[in-house]
Amino acid sequence: MKMLDGCWRRCVVVGLRLLLFLPAGLPVRSQGDSNNKQMDNITVRQGETVFLSCSQGDFVTHTAWLNRSSILYAGEDKWSVDPRVSLVVLNQAEFTIKITDVDLMDEGQYTCAVQTVSRPRTTSVHIIVQVPPKIVNLSKDLVVNEGSNVTLMCLANGKPEPAIVWRMQSSSDDGLSSETEVLEIPFITRQRAGTYECTAVNDIAVDTQTVELTVNYPPSISEGRDVGVTLGQRGVLLCEADAVPEADFEWYRDDRRIFNDFDGIAIEDSDAFSKLIFFNVSETDYGNYTCFATNKLGSANTSILLYEVIEPTSSTLLQVETASVLEMTSSDLKQRAFENNELWEGPGAVQDGNSGTSTVFTPTCLLLIILLQLLLKF
Ligand SMILES: *[C@@H]1O[C@H](CO)[C@@H](O)[C@H](O)[C@H]1NC(C)=O
Ligand SMILES: *[C@@H]1O[C@H](CO)[C@@H](O)[C@H](O)[C@H]1NC(C)=O
Ligand SMILES: *[C@@H]1O[C@H](CO)[C@@H](O)[C@H](O)[C@H]1NC(C)=O
Ligand SMILES: *[C@@H]1O[C@H](CO)[C@@H](O)[C@H](O)[C@H]1NC(C)=O
Ligand SMILES: *[C@@H]1O[C@H](CO)[C@@H](O)[C@H](O)[C@H]1NC(C)=O
Ligand SMILES: *[C@@H]1O[C@H](CO)[C@@H](O)[C@H](O)[C@H]1NC(C)=O
Ligand SMILES: *[C@@H]1O[C@H](CO)[C@@H](O)[C@H](O)[C@H]1NC(C)=O
Repeated sequence: MKMLDGCWRRCVVVGLRLLLFLPAGLPVRSQGDSNNKQMDNITVRQGETVFLSCSQGDFVTHTAWLNRSSILYAGEDKWSVDPRVSLVVLNQAEFTIKITDVDLMDEGQYTCAVQTVSRPRTTSVHIIVQVPPKIVNLSKDLVVNEGSNVTLMCLANGKPEPAIVWRMQSSSDDGLSSETEVLEIPFITRQRAGTYECTAVNDIAVDTQTVELTVNYPPSISEGRDVGVTLGQRGVLLCEADAVPEADFEWYRDDRRIFNDFDGIAIEDSDAFSKLIFFNVSETDYGNYTCFATNKLGSANTSILLYEVIEPTSSTLLQVETASVLEMTSSDLKQRAFENNELWEGPGAVQDGNSGTSTVFTPTCLLLIILLQLLLKF
C-alpha cells in the first residue's frame, strides 16, 4: 500500500508537470481530451478565503489538489506546509479545500487531479487575486516660495493597476489637476496654496491622501489711513499686511523705533495687522508714523499721519439742537442735514482724515435754511 501510494504520487507529479507545462496560449480544455476541464476563473480579494472544489465519482481511486505543480492535498493527506490551506470535504461526491487569507502569491492555476479505474481526469481553475489600491509614496507637505516650480508625486499599488488623479481641493482650476502620478505646478502663485488630493482607484476600492502646500510670499501692506484725533482722546493707527509666513511689525516715528507700553503708547499685533494705540493723545504725539511689516522674504512699509482735530465749539453744539427741531418740520431738510452731519459724531470723536473735511454748520447757514423753509411753505 505504501509503495502504491509512492507510485501514485510520482505519477501525479510527473503527469501533471507535463500537463501544466504545455505551451502558453493552448488551453487545457482544447486538447481534444474531454477529461481535462478548465473551470471559470475565480476572482478573490487579497485577505479573503477561497474554496476549491471538484466532483468525485464512484470509481475514484486517488484524488489530489495541486497549486501549479506542487500537491496541496493528496486525498486526506496534506502535503502543503502552508497553514492557510485546509481540507473542507472529501467524500464520494466532492473534494473541497480552502485557502484562507489569500495573497498575491497565490494567484495562478490550481488543478484537481482524479484517478478513476479507467483513466485520469483533471479540472483546472485560475485564481485571480485583487488588491485594493494603496498609496505607497506621496509627496510630503511642502512649503515653497512664490514662483517656484512645484512637483507633487503619488505612487500607488493595487491590482488591477489603480488609476491616479490629482486635484486641488475646493478648486475647479484644471491647471491644478492631473491624471498621472505627477502633478507639476510651474511658477506657483499664492492662490495655488492649499490642500491637494491624490486619489488611487481600481475596480475594487479607492485610496485618497492629501498634501498641504504652503506658498510663502513677502508682505504687501495696505495703504495707511491718516487719523485725526482730538487732544486728550484715544487714537489708534492701523497697519495691515498680507504675508506668508505672517509678518512681524515695527513702528517708527521718523527714525525712532516705538516700543510697546512706552510713553502712553501700546502696540497690539495680530496675524495680519498691528495697532499703534495712544491712550491720551498729547500735542507732541501728532506727526508722521511709519509701519514696517517684515517676513523672511521681504518687507513693506507705509506712513500714517496722526493729526489734530479741534474739539467742536459751543456754536456747533447749538447747531445740532436746532437741526433736530428742523427734523420734525421737513423730512427733506432732515435728510440734507443728516447727510452733512453724518461724519460728525460729537465732541472728541475720531475723524477719518481721508474722507475730506466735513462741513460744519454755522449759525448763518442755519438761518438761511430756516428762511428757505418758511419761503417754501408759502
Ligand atoms: C482567466 O484568467 C487568465 C489569466 O488572467 C486569462 O488569461 C483568461 O482569459 C481568463 N479566463 C476567463 C474565462 O476569464
Ligand atoms: C502557490 O504557489 C506559489 C508559487 O510557488 C506560492 O507562492 C503560493 O504560496 C502557493 N499558494 C498556496 C495556497 O499554496
Ligand atoms: C518615493 O519616491 C521618491 C522619488 O521617486 C524616492 O526617492 C523615494 O525613495 C520613494 N520612497 C519610497 C518609500 O518608495
Ligand atoms: C521652472 O521651470 C521653468 C521651465 O518650465 C524654468 O525655466 C525655470 O528656471 C524653473 N524655475 C526654477 C526656480 O527652477
Ligand atoms: C490726558 O492727559 C492730560 C495731560 O497730561 C490730562 O490732563 C488728562 O486728564 C488725561 N486724560 C485722560 C483721559 O487720561
Ligand atoms: C512720513 O515719513 C515718511 C518716511 O519717513 C516719508 O516718506 C513721508 O513722506 C512722510 N509723510 C509726510 C506726510 O510727511
Ligand atoms: C518703504 O517702501 C517704499 C515703497 O513703498 C520703498 O521705496 C522704501 O525703500 C521703503 N523704505 C524703507 C526704509 O524700506
